[in-house]
Amino acid sequence: MLVIVKNDYEEMSKEAAQIVADRLHKKPNLVLGLATGSTPLGLYKELIRMHKEEGLDFSKVTTFNLDEYVGLPPGHDQSYHYFMHENFFKHINIPDGSVNIPDGLVSDIDAFCDWYEEEIRKAGGIDLQILGIGSNGHIAFNEPGSSLGSRTRVKTLTEKTRQDNARFFKSPHEVPKYAITMGIGTIMDAKEQILLANDANKADAVKAAVEGPLTGQCPASVIQLHRKTFVIVTKDAAVKLSGSYPGTWKSSFMLEQ
Ligand code: PGA
Repeated sequence: MLVIVKNDYEEMSKEAAQIVADRLHKKPNLVLGLATGSTPLGLYKELIRMHKEEGLDFSKVTTFNLDEYVGLPPGHDQSYHYFMHENFFKHINIPDGSVNIPDGLVSDIDAFCDWYEEEIRKAGGIDLQILGIGSNGHIAFNEPGSSLGSRTRVKTLTEKTRQDNARFFKSPHEVPKYAITMGIGTIMDAKEQILLANDANKADAVKAAVEGPLTGQCPASVIQLHRKTFVIVTKDAAVKLSGSYPGTWKSSFMLEQ
């Protein structure tokens, strides 16, 4: 794990975008795992800028999103289909057929989840997975108590997560109760990961993930077992960390090995 502490949200986002762009230059048909939420918006904005101004090419990329709410149609303004289209896909040159997001309306959820896992396998596995972290330590919608070996499946959202996400909905009652989410085992199969956190309200979760015990009570702590995870956080989100950590991945290249 390489923990990188940046001054602010913009620096955090640019650092992550540089890693994505580097991997994309090395492998044009990169398989990218993507996340929703407010945290990765700056990363997507910077990748869009790189696409428009520097010709960063997504034409051969395949993407897999982490999760989707059960019951929300793709056109609902809080569905993750809508979020990804509005905030990323419609601004870059990725073919529609190369985008994969769990289907929250599917009738046979178990069969769908098996199919999603198979699609990831058929694509050769995820090369680089982007992750946010919940204030309760969740990754994707793997809530505290999730099995560390879990695969894509339906999960019940905790009250904490529903409260955290209520800010995006007209009323807290509208926040769905269930989601389809990649499992922790699915996420851990990614060859590389970037976990992002910028807000002070994530400081406890970041501390638990990076320096706490490995436990299903903090699903993000599983990154301690991963071979190659970049944890890119702002000073605000890093405030409870006790280790001393570098400022960029390039200057820390040797540390990473
Ligand atoms: P946020 O959500 O980026 O909106 O804070 C992150 C998460 O819950 O994983």
